[in-house]
Amino acid sequence: MTNLPSPDLAGLDAELEALIRSLHRTAPDRVFSAHYNGARLWVKTVAAPRLRSSVLLQKTIAFVFGLPVLQPARNRGGARGLADEAAALRDLTAAGFPVPPVIACTPDWLVLGDAGEALESRLNSLRDRAPDDCWRLIAAAGILLVRLHAANQWHGGAQIRNFSWRSDQPGLLDFEDHDLPGMTLAEKQARDLLLFVYSLTRYDRDTAHPRLPALAASLLGNATPDVQDCIRRLRRRMAWLLALARWLAPHAGRDVRQAAAADAALAAALKN
Ligand SMILES: Nc1ncnc2c1ncn2[C@@H]1O[C@H](COP(=O)(O)OP(=O)(O)O)[C@@H](O)[C@H]1O
Ligand SMILES: [Mg+2]
Repeated sequence: MTNLPSPDLAGLDAELEALIRSLHRTAPDRVFSAHYNGARLWVKTVAAPRLRSSVLLQKTIAFVFGLPVLQPARNRGGARGLADEAAALRDLTAAGFPVPPVIACTPDWLVLGDAGEALESRLNSLRDRAPDDCWRLIAAAGILLVRLHAANQWHGGAQIRNFSWRSDQPGLLDFEDHDLPGMTLAEKQARDLLLFVYSLTRYDRDTAHPRLPALAASLLGNATPDVQDCIRRLRRRMAWLLALARWLAPHAGRDVRQAAAADAALAAALKN
């Protein structure tokens, strides 16, 4: 039997805090797992706010193209960043979505219950040997995203790497980029779909049997007209850049090829 501290505790019990401090000293990453009282927990430590120059660059690009959907997320970093993520997780738990439970949030740590395996590690192991199974899992993640949007919610960082998988069901991870000031709900949801589709291009390797277009069609078919318009506007305003990406794609690096593939899938989906 597991004996976890009760969820939503503001602080941490001293024993767990000591364990986290000791693991933190040697943890190679900002996010690490801990075993406590027979259960696996996840600890997120404070993040540095993004470089001002890169935020400014992204804001400028969004402004020049007239596309709020390209605005940077507001991650306040530090203790406030952890508190913002905890608040988003609690709201989505209350709304009935599969997100990790918040065990505790202090100025130093956000402690979460285990959500299972990262979906991406499962997909990587299936990609080449069982592409149908791989795409079955991806479709399930897509359905979860559609359900989130139908509830007037959004993720903010909906790349496939931020999904989990447990008991044959997807879940949502990582709400560090949930705060998207200056965007309408449609823009936030359009951004989710763009990030999701873009992050899937690397799993669509069978050129004779592409799978991304059908998934993009189903995502956009379930999106509101405002979300569809937002993606249309993005494609229109960035048409020259996307044309350049298509032209360069056969010779270019992975990023450009992925942008061209994601755009082709969205273009086909918008025609439906
Ligand atoms: N509650 C959780 N349950 C299972 N795995 C988790 C959990 N929280 C984080 N992870 C793992 O840690 C990784 C990084 O956590 P994440 O919240 O995505 O932060 P970041 O991407 O900013 O480092 C995830 O991709 C996942 O593999
Ligand atoms: Mg992540």
